[in-house]
Amino acid sequence: MCVFDPGLPVAVLVVLTATVGAAGPGGTCGRMLKTLVHGASVVAPMPPNITGQWVSSRCEVRPGPQFTARSYTFTENLDFHNYQFFYADQHCASPLYTVTSRGAIILRQVSWLTRGGTEADYWLEDVSVTSHSQEVASYLSARVNATCPGFIASDHQWHNDVPYEVLSRQADRDCAVGLDFVLHELQLLRVEQRQDSRDGHVTEELFLGDIHTDRTQRLLYRPTSYQPPLVNVQLSYSNCSVCKVVQDADDRRPPVLPTRGESSLHLDGEWVSMRCEVRPEALFLTRHLSFYPANRTWEGWYAHYSDPSCRHATFSIHASGSFTRGARSALVEGGTEYIFQVTHMRVTPEDSDTTSLLNVFHGQGCGDGGTWQIGLEQDVTSTNGCVALGIALPHIEYELFKMERDMQDRLLLYIGQRPSDGTSPKNPAQRPTSYQTPLLQCLPSVDRHTPDIRTNMNDVNISRRCTFNSALVFLSCVVLYGFR
Ligand SMILES: *[C@@H]1O[C@H](CO)[C@@H](O)[C@H](O)[C@H]1NC(C)=O
Ligand SMILES: *[C@@H]1O[C@H](CO)[C@@H](O)[C@H](O)[C@H]1NC(C)=O
Ligand SMILES: *[C@@H]1O[C@H](CO)[C@@H](O)[C@H](O)[C@H]1NC(C)=O
Ligand SMILES: *[C@@H]1O[C@H](CO)[C@@H](O)[C@H](O)[C@H]1NC(C)=O
Ligand SMILES: *[C@@H]1O[C@H](CO)[C@@H](O)[C@H](O)[C@H]1NC(C)=O
Repeated sequence: MCVFDPGLPVAVLVVLTATVGAAGPGGTCGRMLKTLVHGASVVAPMPPNITGQWVSSRCEVRPGPQFTARSYTFTENLDFHNYQFFYADQHCASPLYTVTSRGAIILRQVSWLTRGGTEADYWLEDVSVTSHSQEVASYLSARVNATCPGFIASDHQWHNDVPYEVLSRQADRDCAVGLDFVLHELQLLRVEQRQDSRDGHVTEELFLGDIHTDRTQRLLYRPTSYQPPLVNVQLSYSNCSVCKVVQDADDRRPPVLPTRGESSLHLDGEWVSMRCEVRPEALFLTRHLSFYPANRTWEGWYAHYSDPSCRHATFSIHASGSFTRGARSALVEGGTEYIFQVTHMRVTPEDSDTTSLLNVFHGQGCGDGGTWQIGLEQDVTSTNGCVALGIALPHIEYELFKMERDMQDRLLLYIGQRPSDGTSPKNPAQRPTSYQTPLLQCLPSVDRHTPDIRTNMNDVNISRRCTFNSALVFLSCVVLYGFR
C-alpha cells in the first residue's frame, strides 16, 4: 500500500493533544478544516439518483494533459447522452473536438473497494466525433482510419463541425478505439447533496470514476476514486456562469469558457482540504499544508480515515521537509514545477487495527516497534520512515502545482495527481500532468514581504504549438513562453 504523498501526509483532527503552534491542527486552519469537512451537511443517497443533466463547473485537466469540459444527461431509465469537449488550452477557450456518446447504464452494487461509491456497468449505442477545425478533422480521421482500415474511403475527407459516427452498436461497428474513447468513468459513481449552512441552498454533485494517469492503461482501468464532480444543472448556484455555458452547448456549438487572469503562484500561508478526499486504494483523508517560502520549507498534517465521511480515523502523519520551485511547465499549460523533499515524519495510530499493524513490525522499520499505542505519536525519522505504511524517508517527489480562484474569489491550490498505480513521482518523467482535488487557502502569508518569485503575466508572451503526430492518440499542445 502506498499511502504517501509528500505534499500530502495527514491532518490530525482527532489528536487534540497535538502541540498548538502558529500552524497546525489546533489553529484557525485546523478549525476551518473541521468545519469544511464535518460541518457541511452532506448526504450521499444510495443508490444514487442520477436522472438529469450534469455539467462541469470549471475547465478540467485530465492526465496527458487533456483539457476538457463535460455535459452528461441521464434519463429516468438510465439512458445517457453525453458530450465530452476537448480543448487546446487550460481555460477551455479554444475547442479542438467533441465526442458525443449515447448508451445505457445499469447500477450494480455498493462498491467494496471504494466505500461510499456505487458500481455500474454501461454500454454504448453510438459514439460520434465532431472536429472544430479542418486540421483536427484530418488528424482524427487518419487516427480512426488507421485503427479501422478502410473505414473512411479515400474520397470521403472529414470536414470540421460535422459529426462522424465511429461506433454503432446497431451497425456492429466499433472504431472508437482510434480516439482512445471509453466511458469507464461510468463504472463508479457517487452523488452528494450538500446544503449551504448560510442560505440553506441544496446543491447536488455527481462524482464519476477517475481516469488512469498512464494513458496506455486507460482502456483497461476500472476506477477506484473520482474525477472532479459534475454539477446538477437544476440545483447549481445561479451564479455558476461556466455551468450555464456548458449546459447550453452541444457538438456543433462547443462551450467556450471565459479566460480568467492567471493567479500568480505564491504558496505562502496555510491550505486545507475542502472535503473528505478519496484516493485510489480506498484511502480517505484530509490535508492541511503550510509552506514557508522564505526558508523553502513546508510541513503537512494528513489525517487518514476508513470511511467516505472522514469520521473514523485510522492514522495521522505529520511530515516536513524542503521544496524548490522550478520552471513553468512546458507540458501542462498553467502548471508550475516543484521538487519536494520529505525529511521528517511523525505517525500517530488512531485505531486498534493500525496500532496492531504498526506493532507487528517489531523493533525495526517503523519507530519503536512493539510500543505503539492509540493516540500516541512517534517520530519515525530515525527508522527512515515506516515500512508498515509504505513510507520511506528521505523521499523526493517531482510535483506540478497550479493556483486558481473559485466563484467566491477564494484561492485554490492544485497539487499533482498521484500515479494511479500507487507509486510516487520519483523522477521528472513521472511528474504529474493533472491535479488532485484543490486545497483552499485558509490563512494568507503572515509575512507579506516574503520573497516569492512572481511572474507578471503581462511580461510573458504565450503561444501554443499543437502536435498532431504524437505516438499517442491525443493531440498534444505545448505552451511556449517568451519573456520580453
Ligand atoms: C430522481 O430525480 C429526478 C429528477 O430530480 C426525479 O424526477 C425522480 O423522481 C427521482 N427518482 C427517484 C426514484 O427518486
Ligand atoms: C483509409 O484507409 C484506406 C486503407 O485502409 C485508404 O485506402 C483510404 O484512403 C483511407 N482514407 C483516408 C480518408 O485517409
Ligand atoms: C522556516 O520558517 C518557518 C516560518 O518562519 C519556521 O517556523 C521554521 O522553523 C523554519 N524552518 C527552518 C528549517 O528553519
Ligand atoms: C455564488 O453564490 C454563492 C451562494 O449563494 C455565494 O456564496 C458566492 O459568494 C456567490 N459567488 C459570486 C461570485 O457571486
Ligand atoms: C510572441 O512570440 C511569437 C513566437 O515566438 C512571436 O511570433 C510574436 O511576434 C510574439 N508576440 C509579441 C507580442 O511579442
